Amino acid sequence: MMMQEQIRAEAGGTVLCDATLAPAPDAHWFDPAYWRERGALHALDGGRGGVAVIDTPAGAGVLRHYHRGGLVARFNRDRYVWTGADGTRSFAEFRLLARAVALGLPAPAPVAARYRRHGLFYTADLITRRIEHARTLAQCLAAGRLDADLARETGALVARFHRAGIWHADLNAHNVLVTGEALYLIDFDRGELRTPAEGWQLANLARLHRSLLKLGAAKLIPGFQAAVWEPLLYGYERTLGA
Ligand SMILES: Nc1ncnc2c1ncn2[C@@H]1O[C@H](COP(=O)(O)OP(=O)(O)O)[C@@H](O)[C@H]1O
Ligand SMILES: [Mg+2]
Repeated sequence: MMMQEQIRAEAGGTVLCDATLAPAPDAHWFDPAYWRERGALHALDGGRGGVAVIDTPAGAGVLRHYHRGGLVARFNRDRYVWTGADGTRSFAEFRLLARAVALGLPAPAPVAARYRRHGLFYTADLITRRIEHARTLAQCLAAGRLDADLARETGALVARFHRAGIWHADLNAHNVLVTGEALYLIDFDRGELRTPAEGWQLANLARLHRSLLKLGAAKLIPGFQAAVWEPLLYGYERTLGA
């Protein structure tokens, strides 16, 4: 069942959360200083710096401020053009995650999303539930733990989302989390619901392939294609058709 949303406008921005959360997150939750003063802010290694772990009354969360990448980043680091509340990065990602979780897919549960308007622009933040004891697939690769089994599980993971029509805009090895029990997809910024179709599904896989190669997989793993990439495709195909 989809969650009941609560949206509240405050001086510190407009906050979207699950209406059943008590206490309800407010705009302070998106301010790292608020958690730091309470000794509840922790850096997260492996991230690009825009992400922190926070101990909230709702449990451990991950707080992310939306940043631009690439060339525009130099001029406009974290401002996006306002097109309405539903068009904000944070509200869109919150809702996509809520849908994924409602479908039983392994994605972090959304805790709260915020936007702040600045004239024609807005800035945005998101809090998700922390997935404990996780490493990224990139870290597994570097640690020599990316074998055929993990590759098959990764393929199956991606296929489950694709079957549900969930397109991931940035499917790379840093956005796959691995715990002792399960695998998760994270970071659904700009992701969207699409009608399942081979074109975008293969493009998602190609992106993951490029990411692994960029991290040196072909040099780190002898016979990478047969040892890892083919099992990954096999796991994908088998789950997609299941
Ligand atoms: N819910 C979460 N649980 C555990 N770790 C997370 C979670 N969300 C993000 N991370 C960690 O933070 C890193 C960066 O987060 P991500 O959402 O991918 O943002 P970005 O890629 O924009 O920096 C991830 O690669 C992962 O290591
Ligand atoms: Mg990421």
